Amino acid sequence: PTALEKPGQTRNILEKMEQSGKNMVIFYGSQTGTAEDYASRLAKEGHARFGLKTMVADLEDYDYENFDAFPEDKIVAFVLATYGEGEPTDNAVEFYEFMVVNEPMFSEDTSDEPLSKLKYVTFGLGNNTYEHYNAMVRRIDSALTKYGAKRVGPAGEGDDGAGTMEEDFMAWKEQMWGALQEELGLEEREAVYEPIFSVTERDDLSPEDDAVYLGEPNKNHLGAASVGPYNSHNPYIAPIKLSQELFTVKDRNCLHMEIDLSGSNLSYTTGDHLAVWPTNAGLEVTRLLRVLGLTGKRHTVVDVKPIEVTSKVPFPNPTTYDAIVRYHLEICAPVSRQYVHSLAAFAPNETAKQKMVELGSDKDKFRRQITERFLNIAQVLEIVAPGETWSNVPFSIIAEGINKIQPRYYSISSSSKVDNKVPSITAVVESIEVPGSSHILKGVTTNYLLALKQKQHGDPNPDPHGLTYAISGPRNKYDGIHVPVHIRASNFRLPSDPARPIIMVGPGTGVAPFRGFVQERAELAAKGENVGRTLLFFGCRKRNEDFLYKNEWEEYAKKLGDSFSLITAFSREGPKKVYVQHRLAEHAKEVYELLTKQNAYFYVCGDAANMAREVNNTLAKIYATEGGLSEEAADAKVKKLRNSNLYQEDVWS
Ligand code: 2AM
Repeated sequence: PTALEKPGQTRNILEKMEQSGKNMVIFYGSQTGTAEDYASRLAKEGHARFGLKTMVADLEDYDYENFDAFPEDKIVAFVLATYGEGEPTDNAVEFYEFMVVNEPMFSEDTSDEPLSKLKYVTFGLGNNTYEHYNAMVRRIDSALTKYGAKRVGPAGEGDDGAGTMEEDFMAWKEQMWGALQEELGLEEREAVYEPIFSVTERDDLSPEDDAVYLGEPNKNHLGAASVGPYNSHNPYIAPIKLSQELFTVKDRNCLHMEIDLSGSNLSYTTGDHLAVWPTNAGLEVTRLLRVLGLTGKRHTVVDVKPIEVTSKVPFPNPTTYDAIVRYHLEICAPVSRQYVHSLAAFAPNETAKQKMVELGSDKDKFRRQITERFLNIAQVLEIVAPGETWSNVPFSIIAEGINKIQPRYYSISSSSKVDNKVPSITAVVESIEVPGSSHILKGVTTNYLLALKQKQHGDPNPDPHGLTYAISGPRNKYDGIHVPVHIRASNFRLPSDPARPIIMVGPGTGVAPFRGFVQERAELAAKGENVGRTLLFFGCRKRNEDFLYKNEWEEYAKKLGDSFSLITAFSREGPKKVYVQHRLAEHAKEVYELLTKQNAYFYVCGDAANMAREVNNTLAKIYATEGGLSEEAADAKVKKLRNSNLYQEDVWS
């Protein structure tokens, strides 16, 4: 059981629905929170428009053996993200194993079609730049069908790779609701907003009271000291051992940070990820509170409670408006068209209301004016009604409708053989000028990390963009020199035998895990172990600008000797772009030899959309030319490498 599991909570979904009078459950398999958000939007909409008694459920909170007992008047929705190489999200692993990997054993029905009474709908969240597009939802959908369940409406799929996730979801759910209306004979009604959370201001409490949460993620952190064990539900608020900039050029900084886990149960293995729990920029916190008319009340203590027993408030209470917005809600994320539409009813005047309805109904207009400008919710409210305060917006709709903030994962750039209590990360700080506007889009977490670095170094001007993070108060853990973290294990692993050769391709910050890999092999070599060929392809803009760990590579080379080669591609030094895949092609002979004769491992880290794909294609070409193979045969060889785990990726988009 996790630290947060509540005693006495049933794992029987039918019992839960019975107790709470529900007739539709929406299960989600979510990694970064989008699927969870979609699930709760379906729940709200099903209730508001069709009077369905809906509830949202985390797949890992329930058992599946009694799915055969679902009565025909109930409906089950599955909103399932596919993660990495076609894998289920962490919270859906058990469900996936139950339904797909193993032959499911249901409690009562032993026929061939034990789920013949079950009616369901599905939506998948995937990314077509990855090989196994929407694999999770497809496999679950076919397993459900195989065991006799009946899908209502089309099998929805959203594509993050094409950037159409939100619109795919909107289009699917209209069809799905239509089909469901017919199936269950539902009447559509005039949708009115019914809060799921109640928000009560607590005049009897002040932010100084010990019971009031000021950003602490859970009760383990309330009080002077925090309580472990630390894990993905309970971050460790770690001291930062070292923070520095690897390079700084106009609008681009690259941070190297070393985190000290020695005061906790946490440790890592080379290739793992460090999860960082971010804090929103002060500027954006202030903006949202202002536009909602809450500036004067920012430190008022509030209690946010579920009105429905089945809904969860995504942060601990009592707390303050400021703490909710600063630490717990993804206030800088892109806004959905549906959400904008739902806020129209609370506009400060008729013109603003009209504008919100238009934006909410016109998908092209919404894309041009909101999505392509990367506006967050507060910025939308500001431009729709300049200078106005949206004080009619109930705070419940903010707490319910904005996603809870998610940790961000960074590839660890150090070796656990050197120190498994001090992982380092390597991150480029992002600030992107939005075309055609004065607006600058800032990466939430990287700018948070930069502000931590500036604060730690006592930078006299640490707050150039209004990034004020620390709250004042008696027990301030968010002091700007600690960072909440946990470790996420990965499959990105060095061969257990260091004599096996490895080939690594990592341009930009894609080099992060490979610094760990090379560090580890250098350490082993220094101890006298036999270390195989270690080939690293690294690319950046210019030798003297963004060449990460430039001086360290020489140190590793001293320990590894001739077995190590660093092959660089500088893209902006000559008249033509030179990329890592071009260098890979130049080294075709050796790469082919290592892979086919010496069972080398091949690793790629960095941009998924273009780089990783082009590297894959280059490798296939190498197999074709060096091995005298047809294009298809060469592709098949590369696929085989992937399937046997000799070709591993740690990529992001
Ligand atoms: P560029 O920005 O000059 O185009 C790290 O970001 C390095 O990766 C940079 O040198 C960048 O070059 C390069 N890069 C950009 N697109 C790439 C691609 N499709 N394949 C490989 N490298 C790429």
